[in-house]
Amino acid sequence: AGPCDIYSSGGAPCVAAHSTTRALYDAYTGGLYQVSRGSDGATVDITPLSAGGVANATAQDSFCASTTCLITIIYDQSGRGNHLTQAPPGGAASGPDPNGYDYLASAVGAPVTLNGQKAYGVFISPFTGYRNNAVSGTATGDEPQGLYAVLDGTHYNTGCCFDYGNAEVNSHDTGNGHMEAIYFGTGDGSGHGTGSGSGPWIMADLENGLFSGVDPINNPADPTISSRFVTAVVKGEPNQWAIRGGDATSGSLSTFYSGVRPSGGYNPMSKEGAIILGIGGDNSDSAQGTFYEGVMTSGYPSDDTENSVQANIVAAGYAATSLNSGPELTAGSSISLRATTACCTTRYIAHTGSTVNTQVVSSSSSTALKQQASWTVRTGLGNSACFSFESNDTPGSFIRHSNYELMVNANDGSKQFSEDATFCSQAGLNGQGNSIRSWSYPTRYWRHFNALGYIASNGGPHFFDAAASFNDDVSFVISAGFA
Ligand code: AHR
Ligand code: AHR
Repeated sequence: AGPCDIYSSGGAPCVAAHSTTRALYDAYTGGLYQVSRGSDGATVDITPLSAGGVANATAQDSFCASTTCLITIIYDQSGRGNHLTQAPPGGAASGPDPNGYDYLASAVGAPVTLNGQKAYGVFISPFTGYRNNAVSGTATGDEPQGLYAVLDGTHYNTGCCFDYGNAEVNSHDTGNGHMEAIYFGTGDGSGHGTGSGSGPWIMADLENGLFSGVDPINNPADPTISSRFVTAVVKGEPNQWAIRGGDATSGSLSTFYSGVRPSGGYNPMSKEGAIILGIGGDNSDSAQGTFYEGVMTSGYPSDDTENSVQANIVAAGYAATSLNSGPELTAGSSISLRATTACCTTRYIAHTGSTVNTQVVSSSSSTALKQQASWTVRTGLGNSACFSFESNDTPGSFIRHSNYELMVNANDGSKQFSEDATFCSQAGLNGQGNSIRSWSYPTRYWRHFNALGYIASNGGPHFFDAAASFNDDVSFVISAGFA
């Protein structure tokens, strides 16, 4: 049985079931998600390999070969049509895409395996979000609901709010108690919502508050989460709610809070029933995190039911897999990266001070220029499965992105710097060499544009995101460093 079969047997059926990695019902054979590709805008639905099975990642890989793909729809498997699509602007923020919509997620940012079969999760970078404001059957008012989600315990931040669950139907903050969603991260920086240790924590976003328990500030029983895969549970019914969690690859769930509602407008609740992923109720969009699967139920599931769902998740066999493909990079080696766009095939990724650019470099160039165009591959500062690039002439300084521009900056040791300086490598999109993908914004690749370096998405909102010559501009032939 799948998770939603288990919830049904437990009397709290799924009213929304989302996963890009697998079917959540034993009998489900329909679309799990839709991807759209950059080359021609065509879309395809990715389905399970078999009823109840793992997503057909190979179908995505062949559809997206030699181009980029975005996740455009995460289908609701419950039959209620509660699909998640690109989130519209809200009270707190408009997104960067046309008409204020948030970014869509890359289809390749979160590869995993389930019992050895490849699948992709939903890697949410800041300004990325999904939503459904026209829902059917989800809890409203003080009605009971259950939620679980499988997340990446190593991908989080302090921005508001990496959420999955129940929110306002108008994308505005309509008041305390108008949300009941799973939150994962280190808090939204506004002084409320912490557990023990330094986080990240599983909390409940109940609107104008991330709650780790009944105390609005701190609940020491809500632990810092450190496993790579996390099962997060939030559930609520009249004057009772709970937070539970565990390692999604082993063991059982623990209860971090179970008890009465907080005071101050949260009892009774005023749930509205919309569904959000990766954003706050008012479209606050500065959070990051990774979502693999999750559901909303009608009815308050028992702990026993959730324990059976956890056993099912463990049996699904989530594991990390390589974030890289194509010609291999080797930590410790010194490299140069040559542009492949017809204009520019004698130009290499270089820097002038903190500015990353391309410059014409050859064996007869000055030693100084050769060093400016040579980089030492390092284990990724923000994720050891990917890479960082240390300047050969300025040791301790690395290529990082800031406002989507590539810069060479000294490593300040911060989480932000580490993540901005981490890049994964894949086969060059134009068939030559490598394309270097931002770990933290996987829709974005190193691109040279008017001889300057950016992280660019294929057809995105910035001038340097232009679709014309995208594949060529993001493909670099890598050889030994000049110096
Ligand atoms: O409760 C935290 C956040 O506060 C909500 O997600 C958002 O709607 C509001 O800004
Ligand atoms: O480059 C995008 C973001 O811009 C970086 O993550 C951050 O450092 C800056 O605000």
